[in-house]
Amino acid sequence: MTDVYAAATLEHVSGNPTFGDAATRVLSPKDFADAWDEITAWDGYAPTPLINLAGMAKHIGVARLDYKHEGPRFGLGSFKALGGSYAAMRVLGRELSNRLGHDVTLADIRTGKYADDCAKITLVSATDGNHGRSLAWGCQRVGAPCRIYIHAEVSEGRAQAMRDLGTEVIRIDGDYDASVALAREEADTNGWFVVSDTSWEGYSEPPRDVMAGYGVMTTEACEALDQAPTHVFLQGGVGGLAASVAALLRQYWGADAPRVVIVEPDLAACLFESARAGAPTTVNIAEETIMAGLSCGEPSEMAWEILTEEASDFLTMPDSIVGPTVRGLARPEFGDPVIEAGESAVAGLAAVIAARTSDALSTKLGLNDTSRVLFIGSEGVTDPDIFAMIMSGKDHV
Ligand SMILES: Cc1ncc(COP(=O)(O)O)c(C=O)c1O
Repeated sequence: MTDVYAAATLEHVSGNPTFGDAATRVLSPKDFADAWDEITAWDGYAPTPLINLAGMAKHIGVARLDYKHEGPRFGLGSFKALGGSYAAMRVLGRELSNRLGHDVTLADIRTGKYADDCAKITLVSATDGNHGRSLAWGCQRVGAPCRIYIHAEVSEGRAQAMRDLGTEVIRIDGDYDASVALAREEADTNGWFVVSDTSWEGYSEPPRDVMAGYGVMTTEACEALDQAPTHVFLQGGVGGLAASVAALLRQYWGADAPRVVIVEPDLAACLFESARAGAPTTVNIAEETIMAGLSCGEPSEMAWEILTEEASDFLTMPDSIVGPTVRGLARPEFGDPVIEAGESAVAGLAAVIAARTSDALSTKLGLNDTSRVLFIGSEGVTDPDIFAMIMSGKDHV
């Protein structure tokens, strides 16, 4: 099993963490607490499991591996269920308060008091799948119209999952960046509201709310642990997940917070390149990685503000170790529970398994037999066709 991991090339660059105040300034304890209070009041809320992979930990020579399995999250299949849907409610709350001239609470929106008004506010976003599904779900729950822009490579399974939630899906010929541009342009022309999971200059409120929503999973994970992990390996797309988790771990554990290691596909390593350049850096995506949720060429500015202060290490990894890790979780060889995970969920675990085949990389990352590593298993089977393909042993779309 380890051959493919030993053969994999992982590039490493050290961060330059200053552990400044970004972890409380960019995302405040109140941002996280407000999101927690709202999201845990939603119908169907239940914490997702934190699964101890004791067999795998022993096999690769670390003390603990804890995998936060986001597959069951609100029946939507990924941690993204916490972000877009919460940000949608916050946009509606702000807009309705403006229009009606008095404070409209999220509880009022949630319980349908303003359903007629919500029906007049259209929310839009570009997505590679999971964020759009969350936004579509949030809109459906409160009766707001939703339009989702997807690029040519987004799988039909993911598009259909959004249509099933009553959203209009617009597929364009270009890439992700083109879908973002069109969503923004059409929103401007028509008076619609963009609810994006990435931030740019002058656009920060919805992405902050998205990241605050993700805090629910991190709080659940912290509460389920007896002791702070020594490491957290976080997969990066635009960096929103990683920044949110890093910020909350710092707020929760203080000086005992784990070492933050960012893991990205080598085909879309914008955070890695940002670390190397010392500033947010955009990369060109020449080929799509199998980890669709991580295929992002441009970091979120707000996420980068946190990561540059909190992340100690940045890694790239090849697609070749994704399939073996998905199969290893679904058909455990070392007595661990069965986990059905999507491609983007396993990046951190794949990187740790590969790192433990190399003394040099383990040393750089401070990984040894006393390490306690936390992962965010960010999605379950969000695309059944791709999961079936991987399980059949085929590792490329
Ligand atoms: C399943 C999954 N994991 C991880 C990520 C990465 O999150 P971020 O883009 O906030 O870094 C995404 C993003 O779409 C995702 O869908």
